[in-house]
Amino acid sequence: MILKHYFIILLFINNVSSKSKFTLDEFFNYTTFTSLTVAPDDGQSILIQTLHRIWDRNINEEHLYLHTLSDNNKKLITTQGSSFKPKWKGDLIALILTSNSTNRAKKVKTSDEVQYIHIYSISTDQLVPLMIGKESIHTFIWSTTSMSIYFATRTPWSEEDEETYKNEWKDVIQYREQYRGDTIYRADLENMTLTRIVPLVNISYRVNELICSPDGKQLIYSTKPASSNLERIHDYELFLLDLTNPSLSNPLKLTNNSAIEENLKWSIDGLVFFTVTGKGSVDSEYEDSQGRLYHINISNYRIERWANQFKGQVNDYILLEGGRQGVVILGQLSTETQLYKQQSFSSELIKQNGWNGTYENIATASSGNSSTIVFIHSSYEQPQEVYFINNIDQLNIALPVTSENKLFTKRNLPKGKSYRWINKDDKMEIEGILLYPPDKFEEKNLPLFVLIHGGPYEADTNSFRLDWYYCAAMMATEGWLVLQPNYRGSTGYGDEFLRSIRYQIVSRPAKDILYGVDALIHDGIADYTKLTIGGYSYGAYLTNWIITQTTRFNAALSGAGASEHVADWGLTDIPLASIYMFGGFPWQVPHLYQQEAAIFQIDKVRTPTHIVVPGSDIRVATSENYILERALNSLDILTKLIVLPDEPHLLGNNPWHEKIKLREEIRWLQKYGHICVSACNETFNSASHHTYIQIHTFTFFLLVLLAYFKN
Ligand SMILES: *[C@@H]1O[C@H](CO)[C@@H](O)[C@H](O)[C@H]1NC(C)=O
Ligand SMILES: *[C@@H]1O[C@H](CO)[C@@H](O)[C@H](O)[C@H]1NC(C)=O
Ligand SMILES: *[C@@H]1O[C@H](CO)[C@@H](O)[C@H](O)[C@H]1NC(C)=O
Ligand SMILES: *[C@@H]1O[C@H](CO)[C@@H](O)[C@H](O)[C@H]1NC(C)=O
Ligand SMILES: *[C@@H]1O[C@H](CO)[C@@H](O)[C@H](O)[C@H]1NC(C)=O
Ligand SMILES: *[C@@H]1O[C@H](CO)[C@@H](O)[C@H](O)[C@H]1NC(C)=O
Ligand SMILES: *[C@@H]1O[C@H](CO)[C@@H](O)[C@H](O)[C@H]1NC(C)=O
Ligand SMILES: *[C@@H]1O[C@H](CO)[C@@H](O)[C@H](O)[C@H]1NC(C)=O
Ligand SMILES: *[C@@H]1O[C@H](CO)[C@@H](O)[C@H](O)[C@H]1NC(C)=O
Repeated sequence: MILKHYFIILLFINNVSSKSKFTLDEFFNYTTFTSLTVAPDDGQSILIQTLHRIWDRNINEEHLYLHTLSDNNKKLITTQGSSFKPKWKGDLIALILTSNSTNRAKKVKTSDEVQYIHIYSISTDQLVPLMIGKESIHTFIWSTTSMSIYFATRTPWSEEDEETYKNEWKDVIQYREQYRGDTIYRADLENMTLTRIVPLVNISYRVNELICSPDGKQLIYSTKPASSNLERIHDYELFLLDLTNPSLSNPLKLTNNSAIEENLKWSIDGLVFFTVTGKGSVDSEYEDSQGRLYHINISNYRIERWANQFKGQVNDYILLEGGRQGVVILGQLSTETQLYKQQSFSSELIKQNGWNGTYENIATASSGNSSTIVFIHSSYEQPQEVYFINNIDQLNIALPVTSENKLFTKRNLPKGKSYRWINKDDKMEIEGILLYPPDKFEEKNLPLFVLIHGGPYEADTNSFRLDWYYCAAMMATEGWLVLQPNYRGSTGYGDEFLRSIRYQIVSRPAKDILYGVDALIHDGIADYTKLTIGGYSYGAYLTNWIITQTTRFNAALSGAGASEHVADWGLTDIPLASIYMFGGFPWQVPHLYQQEAAIFQIDKVRTPTHIVVPGSDIRVATSENYILERALNSLDILTKLIVLPDEPHLLGNNPWHEKIKLREEIRWLQKYGHICVSACNETFNSASHHTYIQIHTFTFFLLVLLAYFKN
């Protein structure tokens, strides 16, 4: 008898980790890697840019390190932030530094502030600024030598032009006319000193990316509109500038398609690679697909697609030995992001034998017969670190370069696994990730938090990322079983899966999610009296909608979401996304804009809802959040809205705001998540849903009748 008890106690102790859970402060002590660059000449060192949030001092601490792989030596180059990936040529590294980032929001550029490119010399350890003028740099690239750099800025105004404008308009802004195109320049250097700046061409667009051909004779740039607003897809094309031609004023247009070309790389044999990630199509009318890789042959403008048999999304790629050995892609399929190699665009795509989880930020450089490949890897219980290999076939013996997040290997972490269910309306299988509270892996009857990713063209994968947006691990550590559903619209499940939210942008994915909650209740995994939900951006569009469709959730978290779509289209910087999703402008398909909007059904909400507004959001207009708050407040539904001043859609200016967002959301779930609102016994199915609407429609008519007779 005693022995038996002893045995049980032992089992119990064995099951419970001796490690402590991480705290909210530790959660925000996570380091992310914002860029990796391999030494172009010998591949023996890498540049690593890190970002670490010091929330109590309002500082985004950004470091640029030079790591030597042979002796694992680490040298700090700068603590100033850099908004661009550093560009490396020989002994020199070109950087654009943002001034010291104590609250970057305060650092809005004034019109006479001088702009610099900084050049760092590895051999002399000098960092010198090159003054380039008053306009901010949109992009830059080395020529084939370290003698010149090409860069693009907005075409500067002459003092006369400025004077004329001031006389005629003073401070009045002409909305559309205020934007103007770019000038591409060449800056010549001698001994790290700027000798001259030569304007090459003025264009009516803004330059998005710039690359130089391996022989140094041509430049290719991609464009976007001067306003940066995604209104017309034909503003986004590739152009070629022949540097050997003395009259540069006529760039050659290389593409004429309905896609946004990004992530340009020039192969040694004259192909220009690019990706299109959920932003139109290169070979048909505008249509979104998962991330794809293409090349264009600039001799005949032919475009070929790589990895075209891959069912998932191409997230990123590298050219192996300048393209001679083909490409390696980072491919996300289901909840894994793995490396795949392809020798030529027509050959087979071969999965490389690596570790389970998520690979990110791949980079390479090769010289002679050696190459170095670096990347970030993480999985459910492995924090992100940088690793390297010398050969793509050695993926499973990659060596770590960093140990920035070692703290988390000493903490008792949530364990994750994939979970699948069926949307009973159309029998589609949906997958999500379940993240269990520490020590509760695969336990039953747990309180549930459904965390809906944004995008919608994203996916939750087997990875480890900690921040205000990727907050699943924090919520699990707070005791919630976290379901992260890869609803219709997510990447990694085929193009049809991604596209099937068109015309049903919230109603269809909402069903995917709600059937997932049903399945968890049915399987005894989630406690149906303790259901909560939340999401950010598109995840909040869905949250706002879902709380109008069911009262089963005790608490909801909504961040930077929309509750209607006309102002959403009219105020966002990417209106084309609305047009594509609904198949027309608001005046062409008004019923769809209305049908898929939470605001017109908001009176069905009973769930206490916490709302976060980034104060300077132009992706999802801040007004959308105030509309939601006013509606819930008018209906006496518990709600609280907090504003994060000066923050853009994806925050990042002041880490204090990120911490407060999460602190308040945790509190909201703690406070209301365990209290059953009104429908604890309601399980989602179309029958009960239907009745609910009928009753409410009936009540509505009664009220209208009453009002009528009163008058
Ligand atoms: C963050 O981590 C660093 C080093 O890992 C440690 O020195 C510091 O005390 C940590 N801060 C918090 C708030 O945990
Ligand atoms: C930026 O801040 C760091 C540390 O706070 C300091 O050492 C450095 O001199 C500052 N740089 C500039 C340009 O102010
Ligand atoms: C560059 O600097 C080095 C050392 O300061 C000097 O010897 C050399 O002449 C300089 N070259 C030019 C072109 O100015
Ligand atoms: C580009 O625009 C600037 C400013 O308007 C003008 O001074 C310059 O002559 C233009 N350059 C070319 C090559 O057209
Ligand atoms: C570009 O494509 C559009 C239709 O997609 C077509 O109307 C136009 O003529 C094309 N322009 C050129 C220069 O080929
Ligand atoms: C690019 O096109 C040219 C002209 O059709 C062709 O000769 C060349 O082989 C192509 N290059 C590659 C790498 O396919
Ligand atoms: C990796 O994932 C596969 C399928 O998801 C699984 O069968 C395998 O056991 C996993 N391997 C490791 C080492 O976890
Ligand atoms: C490159 O190849 C040459 C000749 O095949 C060989 O001598 C040399 O050691 C190789 N270098 C590396 C880094 O593998
Ligand atoms: C749920 O059902 C149980 C038993 O069927 C009942 O006792 C309870 O009052 C119901 N709760 C609510 C909130 O309707």
